Amino acid sequence: MTRHMFTNLLLLWSLGHHLDVNGLTYALKEQSWNNQNLSSVPQDLDVRLRRLDLSNNLIRQLHTLALPYLEQLDLSSNQLDLFSEGAFEKLAQLEQLNLSRNGLNNNLGSNSRALQVLGGLKSLDLSMNTLSYEAVRLYLKNKPSLDQLKMTGNVLTRLSHSLFKESKRLQTITIDDNLISEIEQGTFEPLSQLQTLNLAKNNLAHICDFKLPQVKYLNLSRNSVEFFVTHEDDQVYRLEILDLSYNKLLYLPVVPKMNHLKYLYLQNNMIGSLNSEPTMVSEANSLYNEIFSKKIARKNTLHSNWRLMPLVYIDLSFNHFRSFPLETLSLLSSLETLKFSDNCLQNILWNIRNYSDTEGLRQLYFHSLKNLDLQSNGLVYISPLFLGALTQIETLNLQENSLQPCGYTDHLNASLSTQPVNLNTLCVAFGQLKTLKHLNLKENNIKRLAPQAFQRTSLVSLNLAKNVHMEMQKGALEGVQTTLQSLIICEINMSSSHLSLPCLPALTQLNISNNRLDMIPSTLSCSHVGELDIRNNDFMTLNYSLIHALTMNLTVMYISGNQFNCCDSRWLTILNEMKIKLPDINETKCFSGDRNFVMTEYMKNSVLYCLPNTKAQEVHFGQISIIILFLIVLLVVLIIFSRKLCTQRSFIV
Ligand SMILES: *[C@@H]1O[C@H](CO)[C@@H](O)[C@H](O)[C@H]1NC(C)=O
Ligand SMILES: *[C@@H]1O[C@H](CO)[C@@H](O)[C@H](O)[C@H]1NC(C)=O
Ligand SMILES: *[C@@H]1O[C@H](CO)[C@@H](O)[C@H](O)[C@H]1NC(C)=O
Ligand SMILES: *[C@@H]1O[C@H](CO)[C@@H](O)[C@H](O)[C@H]1NC(C)=O
Ligand SMILES: *[C@@H]1O[C@H](CO)[C@@H](O)[C@H](O)[C@H]1NC(C)=O
Ligand SMILES: *[C@@H]1O[C@H](CO)[C@@H](O)[C@H](O)[C@H]1NC(C)=O
Ligand SMILES: *[C@@H]1O[C@H](CO)[C@@H](O)[C@H](O)[C@H]1NC(C)=O
Ligand SMILES: *[C@@H]1O[C@H](CO)[C@@H](O)[C@H](O)[C@H]1NC(C)=O
Ligand SMILES: *[C@@H]1O[C@H](CO)[C@@H](O)[C@H](O)[C@H]1NC(C)=O
Ligand SMILES: *[C@@H]1O[C@H](CO)[C@@H](O)[C@H](O)[C@H]1NC(C)=O
Repeated sequence: MTRHMFTNLLLLWSLGHHLDVNGLTYALKEQSWNNQNLSSVPQDLDVRLRRLDLSNNLIRQLHTLALPYLEQLDLSSNQLDLFSEGAFEKLAQLEQLNLSRNGLNNNLGSNSRALQVLGGLKSLDLSMNTLSYEAVRLYLKNKPSLDQLKMTGNVLTRLSHSLFKESKRLQTITIDDNLISEIEQGTFEPLSQLQTLNLAKNNLAHICDFKLPQVKYLNLSRNSVEFFVTHEDDQVYRLEILDLSYNKLLYLPVVPKMNHLKYLYLQNNMIGSLNSEPTMVSEANSLYNEIFSKKIARKNTLHSNWRLMPLVYIDLSFNHFRSFPLETLSLLSSLETLKFSDNCLQNILWNIRNYSDTEGLRQLYFHSLKNLDLQSNGLVYISPLFLGALTQIETLNLQENSLQPCGYTDHLNASLSTQPVNLNTLCVAFGQLKTLKHLNLKENNIKRLAPQAFQRTSLVSLNLAKNVHMEMQKGALEGVQTTLQSLIICEINMSSSHLSLPCLPALTQLNISNNRLDMIPSTLSCSHVGELDIRNNDFMTLNYSLIHALTMNLTVMYISGNQFNCCDSRWLTILNEMKIKLPDINETKCFSGDRNFVMTEYMKNSVLYCLPNTKAQEVHFGQISIIILFLIVLLVVLIIFSRKLCTQRSFIV
């Protein structure tokens, strides 16, 4: 009890102690002076502080800080260019120091002497200080405990072993956005705990011999790397993530033979420029042999190393492939996601080397591949043998190509023909892809969607947008009725006579915007659509009994950009009554005579506007006439009656 009171008193005391100090966050342990326009460190700081944030101020000089318990100090975004000699002497417990965004390229001699006393530092951020190689070398003296070092946005041009020789326990080094073009051998090798190395946005041109088995994450994105080669040895490399995107690679990287590589980023390079896959592979191998002056003829180093790679994700988008590197990629037996958009494939044939003359056509498989992105490749044809290799495919993005889906009967023909004669007349047999769930065929200039085009797939979502003038034949969606949940058939310029939907009981999302539709297919009453987009069509009204049926599951509907008849809006009343969300109702117009109105405005005064026009209003007119007639009769009766009264009265008077 007394102890409890005592701690309460202590708390009160400490609150009181701090209340006169502005910028107070938490009593005792932590204090933030962030963004206070301070030009110097405040006096009388609590000696018990463990964390101090002085970032975003105008501090230029740092004098001795006597905070014996301080563990974290943030001085980022100030104008620091001078530490006095003993500035850090009394910070015996300091572990994390953030000095980013200051002017530490000045007064190197005294500043580095001041920093040298911080032998217990674990994390140091020196980003954005215009530091050169020499400056960094001085600032890193006596840092034996350092495990995190950040030097983003400085002006280092080279790295050498002497840089880190006094900080051998580094685990994470971030030196992105510098000007490094040279890394001396032995720079990182002695750092046995190094796991994360970020060298993105530098000027590195060649990685001739990657020799860091300890590193798990290596980022070399946005350099000028032309090739990445590892000398084959028996060591197990811990590498899991390798980013070589936005470089000038011509070849696939020759990775360590034994690695843990799961994510490989190779987008935005020039891989595949060398026409065929065999050329690309043999060029990569001869490069390897050249670098290591090997004369072991015929050994396929690239493939033998790739075969062992446990990769699950590879991004090869925005490269120069003109043929699909079937053999190489099929070696990746754990691969789940393959990004291959924005290359120049045009077609995917089954041009693979035969093992021997006696064997027939060799079948390869992508045993784990679930997601394949082939957007923007100018594809006109995909061999059924390739589709047959995708045994686990779930998501296939084929947007912006020129593929024609086969109908069900064409499937048989398509899978029989192996060597295409005329690519223009060939279609793609999606029906082979039994595991397929998500298919994007947007912008393929599809002419005709034949019956049962997706029969035997497990399609959950289908995007057919922007296939202008596509003719959707009756029964096109047959075979996927029970699985299809999301259907996009917008921007097709389709009229209602060309839209036929089967009963789709699983459908929950339908987008038929940007067409020329004037009727919602009544088969939709079969579905449980929750989100419906009918924007920018030719609807004048909506079938209200259908709308009524749909409201059972409908939560949101987009309706603007149509030619609605103001005086035939019972459907809207139903939607409002059922509280369906209509996010674009205020942009929805309706027409009456030759005028258009904002539909909501109109609804408020509908009696007025609709008088002369429609049947519905004729009824109204009739009713009004009857009322007027009734009133006249009443008036006449009243007049007559009152006259009678009057005469009677005058009689009396
Ligand atoms: C800091 O100075 C700027 C410019 O003089 C002013 O707008 C801002 O309010 C000041 N901030 C504080 C916390 O005093
Ligand atoms: C240092 O401070 C900056 C903000 O000024 C922040 O972006 C950065 O992440 C901090 N560094 C570390 C290592 O926390
Ligand atoms: C590599 O660095 C670049 C540039 O900073 C960044 O955009 C990218 O996300 C990083 N890659 C990975 C895999 O973290
Ligand atoms: C492989 O063998 C098949 C059948 O024998 C043959 O049709 C095909 O042309 C051969 N492919 C190559 C690239 O030699
Ligand atoms: C497919 O083959 C059948 C019989 O072989 C033929 O009647 C039909 O026209 C073919 N279909 C196409 C699209 O070539
Ligand atoms: C329907 O498709 C159009 C493109 O035609 C798009 O702008 C709109 O956002 C889609 N609607 C919904 C609800 O996602
Ligand atoms: C859509 O079809 C109509 C009628 O066939 C035609 O007049 C119009 O030009 C077409 N629009 C586009 C964008 O092709
Ligand atoms: C309106 O929809 C219902 C189904 O809900 C259908 O039976 C009826 O034929 C439709 N009416 C018109 C005019 O299309
Ligand atoms: C549609 O609504 C009915 C009745 O409210 C409900 O039983 C059913 O689960 C809903 N279906 C979907 C797909 O939301
Ligand atoms: C439409 O406008 C009205 C009145 O300005 C406003 O109350 C309502 O929230 C708007 N509705 C939507 C969906 O934006």
